[in-house]
Amino acid sequence: MPMLTINPSGKTVQSAEGISILEALLAAGEPIKHKCDGKAECGSCHISVTEGRKSLSKIQRIENEKLDGIVGVGSGSRLACQAKLGTENITVQLLND
Ligand code: FES
Repeated sequence: MPMLTINPSGKTVQSAEGISILEALLAAGEPIKHKCDGKAECGSCHISVTEGRKSLSKIQRIENEKLDGIVGVGSGSRLACQAKLGTENITVQLLND
């Protein structure tokens, strides 16, 4: 079971393989915007993955297209609703988009 470290709070929670980062963050009680409820339409769940990126599910076209339209996208950018946890631990940075 992967561990999820959430910054800037520094909270670490045990999570479950196969669920989205958004689901894991909400289960951990982290306040993250998700205006479209995980349909990759709003971009409000944009986060930066600072460790463990390679273990996440691959970026699909719908996520890539949405990320392209967000200002300030970096190499670790993902939509929390689309990125699913693998077996490795990851660290994410919540952003205030
Ligand atoms: S919740 Fe809207 S894009 Fe993720």
